[in-house]
Amino acid sequence: MTVQLKADKLNELVNKELKGADRKEALSRAASLPSLTISAWTISDLELIGIGGFSPLEGFMRQADYENVVNELRLSDGTVWSIPITLPVTEKHAEEITVGEEIALKGEDGVTYGTIQVEEKYTYDKQLEAENVYGTSEEAHPGVKKVYEKGNVYLGGPINLLNRPDHGRFEDYYLDPAETRQLFKDLGWKTIVGFQTRNPVHRAHEHIQKTALEAVDGLLLNPLVGETKSDDIPADVRMESYETILKNYYVEDRVRLVIYPAAMRYAGPREAILHAIVRRNYGCTHFIVGRDHAGVGDYYGTYDAQDLIAEYEDELGINIFKFEHAFYCEVCENMASAKTCPHDKKHHVHLSGTKVRELLRNGERPPKEFSRPEVADVLIKGMKQT
Ligand code: ADX
Repeated sequence: MTVQLKADKLNELVNKELKGADRKEALSRAASLPSLTISAWTISDLELIGIGGFSPLEGFMRQADYENVVNELRLSDGTVWSIPITLPVTEKHAEEITVGEEIALKGEDGVTYGTIQVEEKYTYDKQLEAENVYGTSEEAHPGVKKVYEKGNVYLGGPINLLNRPDHGRFEDYYLDPAETRQLFKDLGWKTIVGFQTRNPVHRAHEHIQKTALEAVDGLLLNPLVGETKSDDIPADVRMESYETILKNYYVEDRVRLVIYPAAMRYAGPREAILHAIVRRNYGCTHFIVGRDHAGVGDYYGTYDAQDLIAEYEDELGINIFKFEHAFYCEVCENMASAKTCPHDKKHHVHLSGTKVRELLRNGERPPKEFSRPEVADVLIKGMKQT
């Protein structure tokens, strides 16, 4: 079943990246503006707003949008939006900033990444943000920890993106939403399934991707490579593992690898909605939500993300493919799920993330029913270097 895009609005891409003469002029103006140093996390948000990944956002959230998102999962105009996209500053910095002024946003490297027209500064309730967005106020949750560490004041207002972060050796995999939309057209793909991941592609991922691919024209493998927690596999190792699995196990004409440059929130159900919205912006018509999407620890139930996104699916402008927990069954001799495999659990190959990391660290491949050997080898090599 295909959900019709309800309004052209859902299809519109924001473009707040200045180029050419406009950029030059903005950069020289920025040199004499008051400046604020922003974190790598905020730079990635700035980049995603600038390139339209976070359309319809045109800047960091003002108070009405922020509060509506936290309380109602909607922007103040009613559009579904699940995660606050905010610019935090300390109270001390906030005092030095006057509403109405333009501020240069610099990285710790001194590069001016953009500017914000400060329309509002406001305080917010961290505990409420934690509870509503992450479903817990426990600091042990990596997303909540970030909330508690942030400055106590948010600045709201439209931005311009003036410089992109250095994309290093994976530059070719950074395509903006306008570019992926064009790419899909050039490839003749009318239906495209987007796949979010912060992990290497294991057999279960491959299984659900390929099952989805049977029903659409193409697959956008769209790994998140912004900030993740320290025990997740580093992005450069993952990128090499994606190149390897695509080369060995995928049909070249049916898949494209493109980076999603965001930070990981680990907000489970709410983040699944953000992930779907962003993939719609990149031009996908379908998006995969499997087991415990964007989850961490035991904070969310296996299908909580699927249940929440189902409530909003008609308004997102993208179809959701929901997948049951997939595993390899030794009796079936293939990948399966509770929907398709009648055998006892003892026949299912299951490995915890901790166990997999331990094997890799010892230079051992996990079973081939869990991970392709070529992928395991890239990860083993990567573990040795970190
Ligand atoms: S995420 O944090 O980026 O969502 P991960 O990389 O583990 O985590 O998962 C990517 C996608 O695959 C998510 O939609 C997730 O729900 C799904 N997924 C991961 N493992 C399985 C599995 N064994 N069975 C079904 N879906 C899975």
